[in-house]
Amino acid sequence: MSPVRFLTGITTTGTPHLGNYVGAIRPTVQASRRPGTENFYFLADYHALIKCDEPARIQRSTLEIAACWLAAGLDWEHVHFYRQSDIPEIPELTWLLTCVTGKGILNRAHAYKAQVDKNNAAGVDVDADVSAGLFMYPVLMAADILMFKAHKVPVGRDQVQHIEMARDMASSYNHLYGEHLVLPQAQVDDDVALLPGLDGRKMSKSYDNVIALFGAREQVRKQIFSIVTDSRAPGEPKEVQGSALFQIYQAFASPEETLKLRQAYSAGIAWSDAKQLLFERIDHEIAPMRERYQHLVEHPGELEDILQAGAAKARARATPLMRELREAVGLRRLASVTGAGKKAANKGASLPAFKQYREADGQFYFKLVDGQGRLLLQSAGFASPREAGQFIAALKAGAGEPLALDGKATPADGVALADVGAALRELAQS
Ligand code: TRP
Repeated sequence: MSPVRFLTGITTTGTPHLGNYVGAIRPTVQASRRPGTENFYFLADYHALIKCDEPARIQRSTLEIAACWLAAGLDWEHVHFYRQSDIPEIPELTWLLTCVTGKGILNRAHAYKAQVDKNNAAGVDVDADVSAGLFMYPVLMAADILMFKAHKVPVGRDQVQHIEMARDMASSYNHLYGEHLVLPQAQVDDDVALLPGLDGRKMSKSYDNVIALFGAREQVRKQIFSIVTDSRAPGEPKEVQGSALFQIYQAFASPEETLKLRQAYSAGIAWSDAKQLLFERIDHEIAPMRERYQHLVEHPGELEDILQAGAAKARARATPLMRELREAVGLRRLASVTGAGKKAANKGASLPAFKQYREADGQFYFKLVDGQGRLLLQSAGFASPREAGQFIAALKAGAGEPLALDGKATPADGVALADVGAALRELAQS
C-alpha cells in the first residue's frame, strides 16, 4: 500500500507558546511516528510576510519554531522538515493555481472577508489594510499542500475553508490539464486540545494571554500563577466547568491525574495549590526538551544545516512535479512544438520542416515533420549540433536522389521512404 501523506505548516510570526505546543507541535511529532505515513512539516515563512513586516522577527520566529519542533522530538531525518521559502517551486505553483482560481472564490475567504467586514463596519474603504498577499493567502496555502500531493492536512477549524479551496483549485487544474494533482482533505482532530489562555479565552498572542513554552522557569511559574480563577477560598468546593486551569492541566495529565485533580476541586483545593500542581505537571513534560531547545537556538548553524537537508529532500519531490505541471499547461521547450501551435504561429506552416533539439541524454537530434506537424523522419543522436546540421544539409542537397539514411535517421511508423523524399523536394523547391 502506498503511504498516506500528511502535511502541515506553522506561520513564523511569533515565539511558540504552550497553545502552539499542545495544538500543533506535540500532535505532529506523535503523528509522524505512525507507520505507513509520509509526513511533511514546514515553516510557513512566506505566509509570515502577509502579517508581519519585521524581518528580524520573522527570522527569530523561524529559528524558534524550528528549534521547538526538534526539541519536542521531531525526527527530521525520517520526515520532510523544511522552510517554505527554500522551495522555489511553491511560488511557481502559486502562479499556476492563481490562473485557475476565480477571484470570486477568494472574495469569500475568511481572513480577507473579516478585514472587509471590519472596514465596512468602520465606514472606511473596503480594501483598507488589505494587501494582495492577504487576498492570495489561500492560493499560496494550496500550493504548499498540492506541491507534495498531500492527502491529509491536520489543521485547526479556522483553516478548514482553506483546505476546501485547495481541493477546488486542484480539481480546476485537473479538469483543464489532466489528472496531475491530488485532492487533499482537512483533518480536524477533536482530541487535540484548544488550550485556553490566562484569561480563559483561546490562548493566542493576539489576546496577550499566553504561557511561554521555553521561558525561564520563574517566568512560566509567574504566568501560571496569573491564570484567572474565581474567588472561592481554600476549603470551598470548586467547579471544573469553565476552569481554564483545569483544562490546561487536562492537556498535560493522564486520565488518572485528571481525575485526581477533579476530586481535589470538589474537596476544596486552594487555587494556589492547584496552580503549583499545574506548574509542576507542565514542567515535568517540558523540562527535558529545554536543553535541546536552548542548544539549537544558540547554534543556529546546526538548524540551518537541517533545514537545508530538508529542502533538498522536499525539492526532490517538488522539482519533477513542477516540471510535469509546467509541461501540462504549455510552458514547454519549443523543440516539441505541435502542429496546432505552429499553424497559428507562422504562415509558412504548410511546408515540411526540420527541427533540431537536444535530449536529456546530452545528444543532438532532429526530426522532419510535414506541413501538419506530422512526424516523417526521426534522427538518431549526434554528438554535436554541427554534425546533426551537416546531415540535414546533406539530405536537403540530395533531394531528388535516392535517400542515403545510413541508419542515422528512420522514417516514422507508417511513413514510406517515398514520402520523405517528396517532402525534401517540396522543401528544396520552396
Ligand atoms: N495558514 C496556516 C495557519 O496559519 C499555516 C499554513 C500555511 C498551513 N500553509 C499551510 C497549514 C499548509 C497547513 C497546510 O495556521
